[in-house]
Amino acid sequence: MEAIIQVENLRRDYITHRGFLHRNKEVVSAVRDISFYVQPGEVFGLLGQNGAGKTTTIKMLTTLLAPTGGTCKVLGFNTFGEEKYIRPRINFIFGGEMGVYRRLSARDNLRYFANLYGLKPREREQRIQDILELVELRDAADRLAETYSKGMVQRLQIARGLINNPDILFMDEPTVGLDPLGAHMLRDIIRTLHREGKTVLLTTHYLPEAEELCNRMVILNQGRIVAQGTPADIKGEAATLEEAYISLVQEVKP
Ligand SMILES: Nc1ncnc2c1ncn2[C@@H]1O[C@H](COP(=O)(O)OP(=O)(O)O)[C@@H](O)[C@H]1O
Ligand SMILES: [Mg+2]
Repeated sequence: MEAIIQVENLRRDYITHRGFLHRNKEVVSAVRDISFYVQPGEVFGLLGQNGAGKTTTIKMLTTLLAPTGGTCKVLGFNTFGEEKYIRPRINFIFGGEMGVYRRLSARDNLRYFANLYGLKPREREQRIQDILELVELRDAADRLAETYSKGMVQRLQIARGLINNPDILFMDEPTVGLDPLGAHMLRDIIRTLHREGKTVLLTTHYLPEAEELCNRMVILNQGRIVAQGTPADIKGEAATLEEAYISLVQEVKP
């Protein structure tokens, strides 16, 4: 099967300025020549400590950030240069980010985003109803989002991310800051998306979650891939995924 995401020697440097009048130029290599692929229908995990390069990688995959080197292909197109063929067919949710309007109901939020994608009214209303059911917001659909719990807001973000019926959904730490029930509901939604054949790429540093959800994963440490494969591959001889993970990553010194 053809890979739906193909990354080869992908690299991203950031140039920052420090010191007096910001005269000292410093290059931070956030992602250092990483290679991996994702097959259609997989739930794929990007794991790693804070600062490992997860968000930088996801931003390049979603066409929001240009690579410094290597190739980054999504749905067969280059994420830099051919983004117009990719954007209508993907979507992304960044954890913690406020991607919804608090002064609108869930339904009106989804209508707004559906209109941005040019959905026709009839198709739009049906799609919205289906998505509201999937994320279990049907009963709260006409209340203002400002009355929602954190878990409900995060489910609304997922609903927003599904409005264009994307082939690939990217999620950057989707369960961060959620209580156990909220995180559980979110994982259920991800499992349902998987059953329905969607490709999901998510980042997390919650290892049981990665083990439960991901078909395959890569572990990033300081911008480099230190392990990749199925949770069982990565676990190897270790008792738990966590034990294997701890032996692979180091604490980043500020
Ligand atoms: N806009 C930026 N400018 C400079 N450095 C950045 C920028 N964004 C991220 N970095 C640095 O790149 C590295 C990777 O960051 P990031 O991709 O956000 O990691 P993660 O999502 O795994 O926590 C970190 O050292 C971070 O400080
Ligand atoms: Mg991040």
